[in-house]
Amino acid sequence: MGARVLLAGSGGREHATAWKLLQSSHVERVFVAPGNGGTSLIATNLPHKSTDIDGIVAAAVANKIDFYLSSSDDPQPLGLVDRLQAEGILCYGPSAAAARIEASKAWAKAFMARHHIPTAAGESFSTLSAAQAHIESLPEGKLWVKASGLAAGKGAVGCETREEALEAARDMLIDHQFGTASETIVIERDMEGWETSAHAFCDGNTAVLWPFSTDYKRALDGGQGLNTGGMGAYSPSAGVSAELGESIQRIVVDPVLKGMAAEGHPYNGTLYPGIMMTGEGPKILEYNARSGDPETQVLLPRLESDLFEVATAAARGELHTVDIRWSPRPAVGVVIASRGYPESFETGFPIHGLDAVDDGVLVFHMGTRAQDGGFVTSGGRVCTVVATGETMTEARERAYDNARRITFENAYYRTDIALEAV
Ligand code: GLY
Repeated sequence: MGARVLLAGSGGREHATAWKLLQSSHVERVFVAPGNGGTSLIATNLPHKSTDIDGIVAAAVANKIDFYLSSSDDPQPLGLVDRLQAEGILCYGPSAAAARIEASKAWAKAFMARHHIPTAAGESFSTLSAAQAHIESLPEGKLWVKASGLAAGKGAVGCETREEALEAARDMLIDHQFGTASETIVIERDMEGWETSAHAFCDGNTAVLWPFSTDYKRALDGGQGLNTGGMGAYSPSAGVSAELGESIQRIVVDPVLKGMAAEGHPYNGTLYPGIMMTGEGPKILEYNARSGDPETQVLLPRLESDLFEVATAAARGELHTVDIRWSPRPAVGVVIASRGYPESFETGFPIHGLDAVDDGVLVFHMGTRAQDGGFVTSGGRVCTVVATGETMTEARERAYDNARRITFENAYYRTDIALEAV
């Protein structure tokens, strides 16, 4: 009998992870809590939100889960890995203590200071008077005011003036803009440079980087519009050389593994640092204790190794025993979203053309729900269409050619994903 594997989340990332796991001869069945329309086609969706820890643990025991692979941000800080491990279930993912590296920016900032990891100058505050005194003591210049807790990727506000920073601090600390996530805020100086991000498999002692990917955060072409969870991605990233990858590993990834282990809560799971490449080298914008969405959708199709073998080896602290191979073929993913996202949008529209894509092109569902034998939209980001190719140009053309075949009312997508890399 093969293994029964559990995922928690409802994104394209979970659909892609389930798809990749099911290629393993070791995997019998995948369960996803709560999953989406796409995961319902290949896995068993469980009726529990990813934050319903009691429900997920009970379902894991009832369904005889052998292995949990963490991918989304919210269950780990609530202790899902700790609870599943207490039931004797093997887990690849951070404990609640280790997940603080994403779930508490205030904690992460102090951790980086303790371990000399380069990042923007910043301080944490829980009262407006202290935040105000700090803002007024700073020279003019761009600041970032960030909710310390998880805020669905919306908790960082860029402020051009001190007045704007004070307003953002008031919104968070007094008006509870992000609920308990903004009971503490972090105020940071802006950093100059260009942004990139990395992913790494981590087994508590060692980290092995994935290829680099580039995410498109803004809603509209040319980097216009509001910040989103990501409107598309491609891999490998233009401009990240092997030498740069090596310095990222040495300066902002390995010290996390060393520091976490030294503090008694080793980091196990995928680590996804957001990085600013500055004149002084890589500096951390933030750490994520999970994989990115839509980055996972373009990265896992490039993984040639068996994800179950890699993740279970990492879960056992034995990453050194597996050979992790990646395809050189580039991958491009285009997110099709509901018009109005990331603000207000309508859902419930039938999705057409999901079966009309070419062989080898992947459609990972995001906000979809099965209905009347088909699928309807149920979220802002609806699906990611992923194509690979001999070249980035070919991958990009295939991704767009196939994305055009998927239609629903109010659908929209950016037209410039991976343009910089062709
Ligand atoms: N695509 C950005 C994220 O997953 O946080």
